[in-house]
Amino acid sequence: MNDKTHEFEAHDFFRSDRFVNDPYAYFDYLREQAPVLREPHQGIYMVTGFEEALEIYNDPERFSSCMSTTGPFAGCPIPLKGHEKDDISALIEEYRDQTPFSDQLPTMDPPAHTDHRSLLMRLITPVRLKQNEEYLWGLADKQIATFLSTGACEFMGDFAQPFAVLAVSDLLGVPAEDRIQFRKQLIRQEQERGGAGVGGVDEGEVQHSPLEWLYDTFSTYIEDRRRNPSGDILTGLAQATFPDGSVPQAIDVARVASNLFAAGQETTVRLLSYAFQLIGDRPEIQQRLRADRSLIPNFVEECLRFEGPVKGDFRLAKKPTQVGGVDIPAGSFLYIANSAANRDSRQFDNPGEFQEDRANARLHVAFGRGRHACPGAPLARAEAVISLNRMFEHTSDIRIDEAVHGPADARRYSYLPTFILRGLTHLNLRFDPLPGGAR
Ligand code: HEM
Repeated sequence: MNDKTHEFEAHDFFRSDRFVNDPYAYFDYLREQAPVLREPHQGIYMVTGFEEALEIYNDPERFSSCMSTTGPFAGCPIPLKGHEKDDISALIEEYRDQTPFSDQLPTMDPPAHTDHRSLLMRLITPVRLKQNEEYLWGLADKQIATFLSTGACEFMGDFAQPFAVLAVSDLLGVPAEDRIQFRKQLIRQEQERGGAGVGGVDEGEVQHSPLEWLYDTFSTYIEDRRRNPSGDILTGLAQATFPDGSVPQAIDVARVASNLFAAGQETTVRLLSYAFQLIGDRPEIQQRLRADRSLIPNFVEECLRFEGPVKGDFRLAKKPTQVGGVDIPAGSFLYIANSAANRDSRQFDNPGEFQEDRANARLHVAFGRGRHACPGAPLARAEAVISLNRMFEHTSDIRIDEAVHGPADARRYSYLPTFILRGLTHLNLRFDPLPGGAR
């Protein structure tokens, strides 16, 4: 056993901060042994292979999402012991209401997931996304104008967080007069969550429904629009029905709307910050994108592949099964490491190299796959493409602030200490504003 091997095995990925700055070397180490491997500390099956990740994402018959965001770390109310050889589907249903975040879309399985997801897809229609995208161009200009003349910003707080909250607020038709309150409330919550320990979740720390404020606000909107339809977007939400035509309760609609904020905030903020970190660190790539803006969408895909904001999510095996030739007993937790699958050399050539023109970058699993695949992907992509375009228009050069992050050969970046998210805690940039300023 060499030193590196020993070090990797000595640390618990889910509890130690050893892998926060660089999870990739550890993921490579696991994949080299096997694309599906039971780690010794928690007994979780680590899925680091691309094909294997896809197989699991695409099979809700064998793998439940019931604890997809927390795994066993926020407590597992289901008595799994002794059922390794059984089909535990009925057991999961029996305890489902007690599992963390059980009222939220990411943890649902079919058929409930199918119904609620279809409700959600009525909110995110292509027409709505198109209108939203038009709004984002102007929103980016306005947000940039708040700091442009200073030639410097803390990119997350000054740009990405307000931009991402207001983007989803517009998508859902939150009235303009309420958006400031949304921004304050959600950024505060995000900052509080960002400070969580390595796990990001812990038994006892997770409230069953941490989104109460959003639920209340959206329930009020929905009830109001049902009484007084006005033809606005919220009225559209209020009138959305389940696939069988039945009318959901106001709280059901409120929940899916709230899920969009919960799932779309921190993730998108990390994608935007990584894109700007990279162009700050790699001036030659910045110059290339500035010279040919048509390269930006593929650059964003490569950012998602190379440094996707969701490091991984969990599944629970519903029956004894096999993946990648490895036996998996019923009741086992699997951690699908998107960030590892995206660097599987069987799928991507030279996966540890950032290539902005990589031909198959878009095949990444940064947005998951299958029934739970991220419905906010078009919005996240649009936010990134628009931010880059607008910042390029208003500046002539974007640089990493060396007073904060150190010189090019010794950068200091700090990353979120969670096993779910991958991303910076802050990003300080400097730039040369172009005459004329933001429109
Ligand atoms: C770069 C940004 C984003 C990334 C990397 C990302 C990633 C993901 C991933 C990996 C999943 C699947 C989780 C699983 O299968 O267990 C997911 C689901 C989800 N995402 Fe995103 N997401 C992003 C942005 C957004 C945005 C902007 C929204 C909303 C506007 C959003 C809303 C959702 C929702 C509601 C789900 C749950 C879908 C379901 O369970 O059916 N996401 N996301």
